[in-house]
Amino acid sequence: MRTITIFLSITLSQYLVAGIKEKTYNRYGLTCNEIESYCNVTQISTHDRKPIFGIRDMLAISSGKGGVGKSTISANIAVALGNIGLKVGLMDTDIYGPNIPGILGSHDRPVTNPDTGQIKPIEAHNIKFISMGLLLEEGSPVIWRGPMLAKMINQFLSNVEWGELDILIADLPPGTGDVQLTLTQSAPLTSALILTTPSAIALEDVRRGVEMFRQAEVPILGLVENMSSFRCDACNHNEYLFGHGQSKSTAEELEIPFLCDIPIDIKLRECADNGQPAVFSQPTTAGSEAIINLAKIVIACLEEK
Ligand SMILES: Nc1ncnc2c1ncn2[C@@H]1O[C@H](COP(=O)(O)OP(=O)(O)OP(=O)(O)O)[C@@H](O)[C@H]1O
Ligand SMILES: [Mg+2]
Ligand SMILES: [Zn+2]
Repeated sequence: MRTITIFLSITLSQYLVAGIKEKTYNRYGLTCNEIESYCNVTQISTHDRKPIFGIRDMLAISSGKGGVGKSTISANIAVALGNIGLKVGLMDTDIYGPNIPGILGSHDRPVTNPDTGQIKPIEAHNIKFISMGLLLEEGSPVIWRGPMLAKMINQFLSNVEWGELDILIADLPPGTGDVQLTLTQSAPLTSALILTTPSAIALEDVRRGVEMFRQAEVPILGLVENMSSFRCDACNHNEYLFGHGQSKSTAEELEIPFLCDIPIDIKLRECADNGQPAVFSQPTTAGSEAIINLAKIVIACLEEK
């Protein structure tokens, strides 16, 4: 086990300038104060697994409870990071319910490189991705058990021609089952993002997710609350449908950073259903803006660690 220290994300010179100018922006447009508050894990233990050659960071997007928006947000974060010029890969590890091809609107069948025997990932919206959904006939179910799932995840990691990537994002299935255990125990994850909705039931499952990553010594980037509120277009009233404030207090209790909340946004759902990620086709809608900002927080924290 190796212990690493995550430094506050400001250099000494930035710090001195910040004192004078109040706000200094990093290259993603975040202020020093913002980065300091998001990336506030000062000491974390981390596994010592060998990284995959050419891949700088690998981020898992996880939740204890199903249906909280992991796939939608993974795909949109990936496309948002691709849009700001990063090399991004997205791995759909939901073998039983692969949704990424639908959200990205691409169902091309991957081919094998005859020279290397490796699978070529599909390219869409400026990112590379792979999914079990691309390897199956549409609508046919997967009926594998644990060892086969683990084998497929390892194939996605080591037998896909990812090339050089700044970040490989893994969209996880819900909970703490076989896929999650394979990934957290053997993939070179550099960080995990945990997603929740504000309801008490979803938050109860956050604890289990946090514990899983802690046991596997995967650093936790923080907690994100999705579907936090709904603004009515007719009267501009903002309603916290599932309650307000609990995610932040759960994050504090579990000693992980609370990164941001993302509102319920009909456009996010419509775009996902139409295979056009909202950050690409509706970038100024409230949900897209929240996700674009989250993508910047994620990459800034990873680059500063
Ligand atoms: N902020 C949001 N506003 C509106 N709709 C959303 C939002 N986030 C997600 N959705 C919608 O909620 C549904 C569930 O989202 P998604 O499939 O991404 O969840 P998931 O956590 O990946 O689910 P699973 O656990 O089954 O993999 C989808 O229809 C998606 O479009
Ligand atoms: Mg999903
Ligand atoms: Zn109203």
